[in-house]
Amino acid sequence: MMQSHSEFEPQKLVENQIQEIQNKLGKERALVAVSGGVDSSTCAALVYRAIGNNLLCVILDDAFMREGEPEKVANLLAQPPLNLPMKILNVQERFLAEMKGLRDAEEKRKVFRETFYRILSETAKHEGIRYLVQGTILADILETAGGVKTQHNVLSQIGISTEERYGFQLVEPLKTLFKSQVREVARYIGLPKEIAERQPFPGPGLSVRAVGEIRRDKLESLKKATAIVEDKLLEHEPSQYFAVIIDNLEKPHGIQTLKIERLSTEFLHVPSSQVSASLFEDKATGVKKGKRVYGEISTLKVLTSKGDIQQPTLQNLIDLQSKILDENPLVARVFYTIQEKSPKQPYVIAIRAVKTKDFLTAKVADIPWSTLNNIGEEVLAACNNVSAVYYDVTPKPTATIEME
Ligand code: XMP
Repeated sequence: MMQSHSEFEPQKLVENQIQEIQNKLGKERALVAVSGGVDSSTCAALVYRAIGNNLLCVILDDAFMREGEPEKVANLLAQPPLNLPMKILNVQERFLAEMKGLRDAEEKRKVFRETFYRILSETAKHEGIRYLVQGTILADILETAGGVKTQHNVLSQIGISTEERYGFQLVEPLKTLFKSQVREVARYIGLPKEIAERQPFPGPGLSVRAVGEIRRDKLESLKKATAIVEDKLLEHEPSQYFAVIIDNLEKPHGIQTLKIERLSTEFLHVPSSQVSASLFEDKATGVKKGKRVYGEISTLKVLTSKGDIQQPTLQNLIDLQSKILDENPLVARVFYTIQEKSPKQPYVIAIRAVKTKDFLTAKVADIPWSTLNNIGEEVLAACNNVSAVYYDVTPKPTATIEME
């Protein structure tokens, strides 16, 4: 049963779960994959309280974690007060080989999930372990069951028998909780602040932020841009904020882009010569009426009469975005141009920053233009293969928080 916000007591949940886990596992060992996100870390710390060193915590260094992250997370969790038994598995090449050439978001998610569980299954077999602990939370289950997307960690709820397929049983102590409640549990069991208060990071990591095909040079620039965005946006306290990278391939200019340009011209009262829109070749996920959509990403650029990029208020851009999506059902997101440079390079970066409590819906965070510009400059300077930086001005719905 789901826990309502008002009656939630972290102490009770922890006590009940420890009891339940001890009853279920007895003297058996268990494996948990930790990403350093609040869900998996809280889950590992809770289960460690129940079964101590019978728990083996692994970090899958899958090429999609942020710069230096596997080591950082392993050190944080292995030291007091948590003292978790941590092990890093370098599986970068395996993930990159499995994901090679895939462009479709759901296909990538499914291959990620299969590779992830295959590796865990092999690790568990090698260690003689029959239980896999994971920090699935309520939103993961609701969104996968609701058809929004394949969360990397939702299996039994969609009819996959983990025992038959991977040889382990699942233990999911957080599956009735909202994110805010997981944070309460995290604080209660003494997780370091860096983790308890940390913004969420998806299990498939940067793979869902590298839109379309995964390539090494693309991931490298995404990691650099991620570090810049996280550093500059921290003080603005969005609920979640990150960079995404997209192949700089546009569809031919056509009816749809003309329609977006006309709408923007009327809405912002500027001459049509100052407005330009485009659509990328690759798509991104969104959610309309509770169902997943895979839609076009539109860019928009509006110039001043002097030829600089105009900086409308965020509210204006959000209102315009909403009109664009209403009139163009195939479009799922709108990116507004912050900065660009020529000549054209293979990639562009977009900044995503949202405010939300439950992560099921989210507003675009109101970030000052000076900060966006600052990020734009730094990203363009740091990433040679990137020639434009955008701000994603689409709330959830219609977009999801992540790109894929
Ligand atoms: P979306 O993109 O669905 O994201 O609006 C909602 C929240 O869930 C996180 N997210 C994931 N977390 N595995 C995870 O552990 C996943 O596959 C996954 N997909 C999205 C996302 O970062 C956001 O906080």
